[in-house]
Amino acid sequence: MKIVLNTNSQPSSKPTTWSQRFESALHPAIARFNASIGFDIQLIEYDLTGSQAHAQMLAHTGIISAEEGETLVNGLEQIRQEYREGTFTPGIDAEDVHFAVERRLTELVGDVGKKLHTARSRNDQVGTDTRLYLRDQIQKIRDQLRDFQTVLLTLAEQNVETLIPGYTHLQRAQPLSLAHHLLAYFEMSQRDWERLGEIYNRVNVSPLGSGALAGTTFPIDRHYTAKLLNFGGVYANSLDGVSDRDFAIEFLCAASLIMVHLSRLSEEVILWASEEFSFVSLKDSCSTGSSIMPQKKNPDVPELVRGKTGRVFGHLQAMLVLMKGLPLAYNKDLQEDKEALFDAVVTVQSCLEAMTVLLQEGMEFRTGRLLEAVSEDFSNATDVADYLATKGVPFREAYNLVGKVVKTSLAQGKLLKDLTLDEWKALHPAFEADIYAAIAPQQVVAARNSYGGTGFAQVRQALESAKARLAA
Ligand code: ARG
Repeated sequence: MKIVLNTNSQPSSKPTTWSQRFESALHPAIARFNASIGFDIQLIEYDLTGSQAHAQMLAHTGIISAEEGETLVNGLEQIRQEYREGTFTPGIDAEDVHFAVERRLTELVGDVGKKLHTARSRNDQVGTDTRLYLRDQIQKIRDQLRDFQTVLLTLAEQNVETLIPGYTHLQRAQPLSLAHHLLAYFEMSQRDWERLGEIYNRVNVSPLGSGALAGTTFPIDRHYTAKLLNFGGVYANSLDGVSDRDFAIEFLCAASLIMVHLSRLSEEVILWASEEFSFVSLKDSCSTGSSIMPQKKNPDVPELVRGKTGRVFGHLQAMLVLMKGLPLAYNKDLQEDKEALFDAVVTVQSCLEAMTVLLQEGMEFRTGRLLEAVSEDFSNATDVADYLATKGVPFREAYNLVGKVVKTSLAQGKLLKDLTLDEWKALHPAFEADIYAAIAPQQVVAARNSYGGTGFAQVRQALESAKARLAA
């Protein structure tokens, strides 16, 4: 949806929006400073929908006539069409989207348009709009998380027996099934998806009818509008209804966690794509070149995701600070909630989309190189100690012995698999010929068959569980 904003329009000399109490119009600089239309125009469709519900409620309760209600609803629908066609482009003289809509409505339907704001305030109105907006965005992000998980699952299914070095402290630790590594991100995304579902329920509560702060003298029906707007409930306290933004903060927390997860994956992809690791190759469609170094292929997508993560954290921080000192109920500070929220939403959505594409078609695991990597190190050392431990040697004793073996092997430029059986036996009489099979990378991975471990049997079960949860 394209946002056309008439920034050239000047505030009129006469006060238009507020009561007759005001004798002169705002100073142009103050009008610009005060206006939120530049960004809250993004809420227009929600504002129209919320206003239509309010108008229907006014008619339903007899506060206005049925005919007036219909006129208002139709007028609002016409504004929706105008907006979609690009002919409704309010300027800053409208101050905000709510005034812009009300003014246009009155132009379209005449004086009855002035009845729309009966028993309502912009405070409960903007709270309603923001929740309706966020509800939609949360649904979209949850769908995107599902797409991301589907791609992770597909990749994992193809790579159960592909091995990849596993790291702690970014030092080679123990080899892994690549599927196990990918499924770790599946699990993180699963929690992200669930978390957003829980938050959705708290976003999905209607503040409409809270009025400016204290409710209204009109016999409104808040449950009626809540039902029309598919809210799960209504705010029980009008002050809370108009001044609460914890639903947005919760969303920003969840958004930050999504970004943490995407950023960690990004960092891994960046490492994997380096010459030093060479675990993945990036496709031309998802990487860029350098303007000066012709040999380069840069992992811009994961770098941007990693970079954008800070923005979302910043919005969370901004919103927390915004709220902490606010007395009840509405304060204009709350107008500052929107840009933070909008930017966090588009940032998370664009990052999820880009990372999904990257995983799906933008990179390829270099399986030959991965196999080489897991075969050329000491990441099977724990398995030698485990081998001795299963033969009755106390683990700590076995651990110390293997430490010595690693040291001498390193000095001789050998790997554990290069030791002869005599050399093994000289180290400890418990070693038999089956030591070679026990320390082969494939076996090292297969043997970690504890629940949640990287053993192939476990990974296959984990894949089944992941599939079931995606389908549910
Ligand atoms: N543009 C305002 C906002 O976003 C709408 C609410 C204005 N309410 C008020 N009491 N001035 O917060």
